[in-house]
Amino acid sequence: MQLYLDTANLGEIREAASWGVLSGVTTNPTLMAREKGADFQATIQEIASLVDGPISAETIALDAEGMIREGLEYAQWHPNVIIKVPSTTEGLKAVYALAKQNIRTNVTLCFNPIQALMAARAGAFIISPFVGRVDDIGVDGIQLIREIRGVYNAGGIQTRILSASIRHPRHIVESALAGADIATCPYKVLQQAMQHPLTDIGIERFLADWQHRQA
Ligand code: E4P
Repeated sequence: MQLYLDTANLGEIREAASWGVLSGVTTNPTLMAREKGADFQATIQEIASLVDGPISAETIALDAEGMIREGLEYAQWHPNVIIKVPSTTEGLKAVYALAKQNIRTNVTLCFNPIQALMAARAGAFIISPFVGRVDDIGVDGIQLIREIRGVYNAGGIQTRILSASIRHPRHIVESALAGADIATCPYKVLQQAMQHPLTDIGIERFLADWQHRQA
């Protein structure tokens, strides 16, 4: 399973990219709005220069025509830009039209396997089920990943399953085991993923022993 970073913060992207673990980046309007005053196009282009992989940029329009217009514009920014559209029938129209022009899409805000099947049939490159937000309403988010994997395998569907709305490191492990192709993670979660108290204690002990070694 590949790891993407779920942020529009260039500092976080630069740092995580230096760890060598990033295969792509996802952004959304909320994440963009957190970067006060940042220009959308310039930010996406800067991200694309930092990470060599799919970079998702989300459309704002709610109608297919508007999504297609925005998608065609974003696609000019960099060859790695993926057009993010919502899991709606207007979104499907946009996916279908953009796919005909070889423009890759990421269908976001997916909350059930039927949305995932329809997005794939319309030609989506990526489907983004929101694991954390499903957990939030008392339903098993990881089960959603498992069901989409089952549906896709049954139909020989190649659309990539991107586990989104990741809240903690365990979500990453469970997404991989449930068959996700990608997990997109907030920076904090990627940091937490490498933390372990026994690693810290081990480092401390090694250093202490090294300092007290006999000459
Ligand atoms: C995915 O691409 C989304 O940007 C993201 O994972 C949303 O997650 P949230 O529930 O933390 O907002």
